[in-house]
Amino acid sequence: MSNANAQQDAFGVYVHWPFCLSKCPYCDFNSHVRHQQIDEERFARAFAREIETTAARIPNRTVTSIFLGGGTPSLMKPQTVGSILDSIAKYWNVDSAVEVSMEANPTSVDATRFHGYRAAGVNRVSLGVQALDDASLKSLGRLHSAREALDAVAIARSAFDRYSFDLIYARPDQTPEMWTSELKLAISEAAEHLSLYQLTIEEGTPFFGLHAAGKLKTPEEGLSRILYDVTQEVCAQHGLPTYEISNHARPGAECKHNLVYWRGQEYAGIGPGAHGRIDIDGIRHATSTEKRPETWLMRVEATGHGVTLDESLNSEERADEYLLMGLRLVEGIDPARYEALSGRPFDPKRVENLCEEGAIVIENGRLRVTQEGFPVLDAVVADLAA
Ligand SMILES: C[S@@+](CC[C@H](N)C(=O)[O-])C[C@H]1O[C@@H](n2cnc3c(N)ncnc32)[C@H](O)[C@@H]1O
Ligand code: SF4
Repeated sequence: MSNANAQQDAFGVYVHWPFCLSKCPYCDFNSHVRHQQIDEERFARAFAREIETTAARIPNRTVTSIFLGGGTPSLMKPQTVGSILDSIAKYWNVDSAVEVSMEANPTSVDATRFHGYRAAGVNRVSLGVQALDDASLKSLGRLHSAREALDAVAIARSAFDRYSFDLIYARPDQTPEMWTSELKLAISEAAEHLSLYQLTIEEGTPFFGLHAAGKLKTPEEGLSRILYDVTQEVCAQHGLPTYEISNHARPGAECKHNLVYWRGQEYAGIGPGAHGRIDIDGIRHATSTEKRPETWLMRVEATGHGVTLDESLNSEERADEYLLMGLRLVEGIDPARYEALSGRPFDPKRVENLCEEGAIVIENGRLRVTQEGFPVLDAVVADLAA
C-alpha cells in the first residue's frame, strides 16, 4: 500500500450511473429500471456540468482514482464513459497512474463493450458475478448464468490488466462445503482481487418481505460465522488475504478508490444519489445529490449541480467517521489521528478490555481489529467511540 504522503494526497471521483435492466430482489442501491431509451448524451452533458461545478468548489486537485458505479454502468455506451472521463480531465488534473474502475454486469451483452471501455480509459473492471451456480443466480434474480459470468470474466481478463468480481455468500441453504468449493472455483478465475459480501437483508427490498414472512431463511449466527471463517482461510491460503472486511487482494492490488473511503480521504460524488466528502477551507463537507435520476438531471440543467445535502462535519463527526471506516481495514487506524480529530484519546480501559478479549491489537502505532474482532466490528466501533 502507498506511503503516508501518497495517502494524504489521494483524491477520488465517484460517478453514479443509476439504471439497471431489472431490480435484484436483495438490492437497495440507488438503481432504477426504465422501459424507454435513456438519453445518454443528455446525462453525459449533465455529468460534465456537475463535474465543472464541483471542480470550481474544490479546484487544483489531482485525481488518483475514478470509480464508475451503479446501478449498472456497463449499460452505458463506451463513448458516454469516454465523455465522462474527458470531463474529469478537463476540470481537474489526473494523475498519470490514475485507477479507473467500472462496475459491470457479467452478461454477454455487457461484455461485448469491455474493449470499448478499455479504449475509453477504464483500466479496472469489477464484475457483479454474485454466485457460480445457476440455481442461486436464479434465486438472486440475476439475469446471467454461471457459464455466462465465467465467459465475461475471461473477456475482462483479455481487456484489462486489473479486474475483480463480487460474490454474495451466506445465501439461503448454503453449506460451508458448498461455499468452499464455489470460492475455490472463484479464486481459480480471479486475478488479484475479490469482493465477498455476506448477504444482508435490506429494508424495503422484496427479500426483506420474504424474510419477515419466514419464506427466505438466511444462516443463523453460528453458521454465518463458519462461512466467514472459511472465506478468510481459503482466500489467505490462495494468496488473496483480506485487506478490508469484505475485500481480498494480492498485496499491492487493493482497490485504490475504495481505500480513499476507508482511509477517510477526499472524494467527489457525481451523479444521482452520489455521496462526497470534500474539504473546503479546512472543513470537511459531507455531500449527497438528488437520488431520482430525472429530477437530478433537471436540477443539474437548471442550477449546475444536483447537491441536496451539504453538511460540514464537526471534529467529533469526522473522528467517528474515521473510526467507522478505518477499522474496516486490516491496516486499522492511527490513534494519534483519531485523537487529533476528536480532541480526546481513546478510553484506556476500553482499549485494554478489547485487547484482552482479542478483538483489537495495537501494533507499530496502529490500532486494528483482529480476525476474531471483525465479525463483531460494529460492537467494537461502538465501544471505542463511546
Ligand atoms: C452496486 S452493486 C454492483 C454492480 C452491478 N450492478 C451488479 O449487480 O453486478 C455492488 C455489489 O454489492 C453487492 N450487494 C448488493 N446488495 C447486497 C446485499 N443485500 N447483500 C450483500 N451484497 C450485496 C453485490 O455483490 C453487488 O455486486
Ligand atoms: S445488484 Fe446491481 S444489477 Fe442488481 S439491482 Fe442492484 S445495482 Fe442493479
